[in-house]
Amino acid sequence: MPAEWVWTFRTSMLVTVLLLLVTLCAKGGNGVETEEVRRPGHVSVVIVGGTGDLAKKYLWQGFFQLYVNQVNNGNTFSFYGGGLSPADQATPVLFDILKAVSCSKDVSQERCALLKEQFLRLSRYRQLKSLEDYQDLANHIEKKLEEEGMTEAGRLFYLSVPAFAYADIADKINSSCRSTNGAWLRVVLEKPFGHDFRSAQVLASQLGSSLKENEMYRIDHYLGKQVIAKILPFRVENKKFLDPIWNKQHIERVEIVLKETLDVKGRIPFYDQYGVIRDVLQNHLTEVMALLTMRLPRNLSSSEEVLQNKLQIFSSLLPLGKNQAVIGQYQAYRSEVQQELNKTKDHVSLTPTFAAVLAHIDEAQYEGVPLLMISGKMLDERVGYARILFKNDIFCLKNHNSIHCKPKQIVFYFGHGSLQYPAILVSKNLFKPDLINSEWKEVTEHSDISVLGLPISDYYVQTPTEQRDAYVELISYIYAGRKNSFISTENLLASWGLWTPLLSSLASSFPRIYPGGADNEGLLDIRLKGKDIAYNSEVVIISRDQMGGTSGNGFQVMQGKFRSADMVSAWAEELVEKLAADIQEAAEAAVHESGVFHLALSGGSTPLALFHRLALHHFSFPWRNTHVWMVDERCIPLTEVQSNFYSLHNHLLQHVRIPYYNIHPMPVQLNQRLCVEEDGGAQLYEKEISRLVNGSSFHFVLLGVGYDYHTASLFPGHKLDEFGESLVALTESPAKPHQRMSLTFSAINRAHKVAILVMGKGKHELITQLSRVKDNPDKWPVTGVKPANGRMVWYLDYDAIIG
Ligand code: BG6
Repeated sequence: MPAEWVWTFRTSMLVTVLLLLVTLCAKGGNGVETEEVRRPGHVSVVIVGGTGDLAKKYLWQGFFQLYVNQVNNGNTFSFYGGGLSPADQATPVLFDILKAVSCSKDVSQERCALLKEQFLRLSRYRQLKSLEDYQDLANHIEKKLEEEGMTEAGRLFYLSVPAFAYADIADKINSSCRSTNGAWLRVVLEKPFGHDFRSAQVLASQLGSSLKENEMYRIDHYLGKQVIAKILPFRVENKKFLDPIWNKQHIERVEIVLKETLDVKGRIPFYDQYGVIRDVLQNHLTEVMALLTMRLPRNLSSSEEVLQNKLQIFSSLLPLGKNQAVIGQYQAYRSEVQQELNKTKDHVSLTPTFAAVLAHIDEAQYEGVPLLMISGKMLDERVGYARILFKNDIFCLKNHNSIHCKPKQIVFYFGHGSLQYPAILVSKNLFKPDLINSEWKEVTEHSDISVLGLPISDYYVQTPTEQRDAYVELISYIYAGRKNSFISTENLLASWGLWTPLLSSLASSFPRIYPGGADNEGLLDIRLKGKDIAYNSEVVIISRDQMGGTSGNGFQVMQGKFRSADMVSAWAEELVEKLAADIQEAAEAAVHESGVFHLALSGGSTPLALFHRLALHHFSFPWRNTHVWMVDERCIPLTEVQSNFYSLHNHLLQHVRIPYYNIHPMPVQLNQRLCVEEDGGAQLYEKEISRLVNGSSFHFVLLGVGYDYHTASLFPGHKLDEFGESLVALTESPAKPHQRMSLTFSAINRAHKVAILVMGKGKHELITQLSRVKDNPDKWPVTGVKPANGRMVWYLDYDAIIG
């Protein structure tokens, strides 16, 4: 009998005596019932990828801890480190790892030495490459069980291998490593579980063909963090305090934050495919969010109920779109990618290393409550927490430092940061929480620190009596069959269902580049705007020169050249901010100089965001001195939705204080008819321009470009110089309504400044084409825009540039 079996045999003799203990241990670490019937016996643990990084850092330590905790509880163990290398090469590597495991403080040195020695004797390396290798392993286990007359309790396979290998290994386990005597099988998997909904579904169905749902243990190591594992018990234990305030009337917002200081150097081949949303938000932060908001189960020990309630929260989340996220990328990431992926200097990766996402739950309890999930690499500090910030409706006239004036919040502090230890903090102006259980203690002695805006002494603080690593906890949950601490297939797919549409909508968005560390300052601060989220800071403008002549590696708004004219480019929102600011600047300069500002605006959907921006953010705009003109109009009554004036009125004019007599719609309807040549509408408008606008030179003309390259209502296929010196003309559009009234090139090209705004992926082809063609206004009307004495600027968003 080999040495490693001697001890297990002896222990197995204790089995009957310890039956009672076993029943107790089957309740798991937290009094949670397991779903499977537990029977004492032998447990074989197989770590596939047993000499890899994760195994080395966490898993062997976790299994050693399990062994230490369970050694006297009736079951016996054997441990196998599996891998692709032959045994003679990998065995010494494995034993080096095993020698490094350690005991917790409460185990005496002698006992620790003994336990380690036993653990080492119970562990061995096995090559696990082919199906035969797995069959051999199964034969080996069975033979030993038989030789020693032991009953088998279960087989635990921990797949610490890349995800692409899961399906194949699961298949091999299924076909050769199932016990024939009813012992349980548990297969543990680590993320990533797919890349999006589809791939997660494919993987789930592959795994599902080999393993039953109750055999799969998908790990999210955040569920093993002590504070996170206590969110539900805390909510239950303090129900009487929380019930009245855990709702939209009282919660201001929920923040779930994981800030990291490290970069992703060395992990880029993986990371560049995933980015922070897939790496952290889709799993860790989503799980925390679900634990905070899900309906409390009647029975915390029922995995089924916990998982069901969690699932229900996913179905109540409002869809996440582009406006619910901001993304960033630390500056050095680009060159790290070039290096690790062997790319050239102009390779740009759009993978975000920072993201802030705003979610909402469509349930009466949480209606309108912002749920913020934020994570990033290369930030100023390492810290993880979930904070529930409550509304404080007390107005303090004098002493703002008195406790009732301060923020009311509950913080689930995962660790690191200023506190340095995991804890649950409740601000003293809320309530004094009950202790969760004897494994937690209250902290009353504090050093002089602040946590999320409050001195630590303003909180009731609870912390675990003994800090344990997440993997140690998770391994004990796997052993206890505590399925509610793992990700079920349904929950996994529901989470991907939430994140996949957002990931697709962000796929070609430019992340905001941040320098990293303390230099980020306020660059990544965010602002909530109703259901939307945006960066708080105004855009940082730098020129190409400052960026060393390269594009894409700088901040948000870039300036350059397009068709030999000036170009400003940014992502849509910031582009619009910049354009609105430029218009205001032009208005102020004109009013300063001549007391009046003449602005000609075009229609269509592109400028709507600009109109909103002007209406909602430019309160000091000199509207009283501004005259608004139309660049073009459809020959339909101005009261119709399709009318450019109608839309301008709706989205801008009715929201600002502009005198009525400063507004100049085009006279498309005269004598109760639309755009009839003899009625002279075009001439009328021209006269009005000549009468009011000095030299008929507008201060600012805003244009767009249509898919057929038309601008204003100047369409291709016409001799556009036929309008001669006229400022306004009737034109024909190929699309309905065909008749239009438009400023001519003569009017446009007299302007002091002409801005051409082009946004959206749909315009990418057009922009590419325009970057190549020569001026030919009859074919590409927009190329006829050439202000004689003014300045012309293209405002192009990144979607239009990169498609
Ligand atoms: C992992 C991510 O899942 O979680 C890492 O892949 C991240 O990118 C890590 O750093 C964070 O975990 P912890 O336990 O250090 O907070």
